[in-house]
Amino acid sequence: MTRVISEDVGRFSQHYPKLATIVTAQAKGKENAMVVVWHTSISFKPPLYGISVSPKRFTYQLIVDSKEFGVNFLPFEAAELIASVGGSSGQNIDKFQRFNIAKAKSVKTAVPILEAAYAAYECKLVDDRGYGDHRWLVGEIVAVHMMTEAFAPEEILDLNKVSPVLYLGNELYLTSAEDKIRRLDRQVYGRR
Ligand SMILES: Cc1cc2nc3c(=O)[nH]c(=O)nc-3n(C[C@H](O)[C@H](O)[C@H](O)COP(=O)(O)O)c2cc1C
Repeated sequence: MTRVISEDVGRFSQHYPKLATIVTAQAKGKENAMVVVWHTSISFKPPLYGISVSPKRFTYQLIVDSKEFGVNFLPFEAAELIASVGGSSGQNIDKFQRFNIAKAKSVKTAVPILEAAYAAYECKLVDDRGYGDHRWLVGEIVAVHMMTEAFAPEEILDLNKVSPVLYLGNELYLTSAEDKIRRLDRQVYGRR
């Protein structure tokens, strides 16, 4: 392999693949969904989750108006839905109707939760800051939805039951391979 160093950073996707999520929101009688791959957990106590959303997205306005958002984690079977939701704007269409998206009941917010999600977080917006061309939205997780059969003990995703959707960039989606798992105990490895 040849190592090159470039100062022409461009759209930098060398750190992909990333888990693809569907972020949901509603306000003033409108509900919507968008794809977000720039997201992360931030804190256990309080439970905080961050998403990076361009202010151009219709969903951004709904989140600002309602101060709530949902983060939905979907199985690989939903990869086409993800491409549809991430390739259209709620400015012009009702994505729930157009893509036949079934909803589950939310409990602590009014955000739509996707029935197909193996897990979802309901979040209350606690911070909204601009970084470059995106907004960094921090939500406190107020409810966690999970399909219990999808998780092994310790709330670890059971890859025999669910394959998560990863985004590689350039419209390519992939999933994990169960035979590529290794359990490496940090207590043991930290002492080697
Ligand atoms: C795979 C994929 C990943 C995306 N990740 C993000 C993201 O992290 N942040 C963002 O603002 N937009 C992201 N987008 C773009 C939005 O999902 C897309 O612009 C969507 O149409 C916005 O919908 P809306 O205008 O109805 O809110 C992504 C799109 C795709 C297909």
